[in-house]
Amino acid sequence: MSSMPNPMVTVVNHPLAQHYLTGLRNHETEPAQFRRLSRNLTTLLVIEATRGLGIETGKIQTPLEETDGFSLSQSLAAVPILRAGLTMLEPVLELFPEVAVGYVGLERHHDTAVARSYYSKLPKLEGRFTLCLDPMLATGGSAAQAISSLKEAGAGTIVMVAVIAAPEGIQFLTQAHPDVQIVVAGIDRQLDDRKYILPGLGDFGDRLYGTM
Ligand code: PRP
Ligand code: URA
Repeated sequence: MSSMPNPMVTVVNHPLAQHYLTGLRNHETEPAQFRRLSRNLTTLLVIEATRGLGIETGKIQTPLEETDGFSLSQSLAAVPILRAGLTMLEPVLELFPEVAVGYVGLERHHDTAVARSYYSKLPKLEGRFTLCLDPMLATGGSAAQAISSLKEAGAGTIVMVAVIAAPEGIQFLTQAHPDVQIVVAGIDRQLDDRKYILPGLGDFGDRLYGTM
């Protein structure tokens, strides 16, 4: 695997992000705390992921004088990949109350790790800056499949927001969708034989919902 920096990948290495990520990795973290950490970390990731959102300038009046102001000029869409990605939606709704929301349901097969689609409901995505939300980018199969659906729904600019990525997943996704920016809190070493990320944090959905 190449060690050249990938210009499409941003690792959010803010100390607070790394603090939250470490809490998620710790096997002693219980679901309630795991959910809190996921939401907090997602807020930081989404702030970075929306750096390219369009803005427009205009004059505003402060209580003292006129000054230049900025406002968002581009609408946003967020699409969590069920089920684990659902926990990343709430922070997006907090930051961007007007966001349009779609859902893609994908589940990896136990033995093959190939993702099977079981649900999809997407708004029209033309002209919207679109966030695809899924905490784990392992083989990259789920993300690549979901992003193909987003493109079919008209999405132009798409940013993949994940908590942890494996190098294999980044490579797969950037080959499948070279135009998609990836924002993560960490890039881990490798996948194991069952296609879990090492060192990773285990099965995100199970830890989130206590379904171990
Ligand atoms: C997990 C995770 C991703 C996928 C990543 O979901 O949330 O969607 O695996 O793996 P990949 O990059 O190899 O496709 P899972 O299929 O376990 O479903 P769940 O969220 O319902 O638990
Ligand atoms: N899905 C997870 O939840 N964890 C992994 O390590 C890989 C896929």
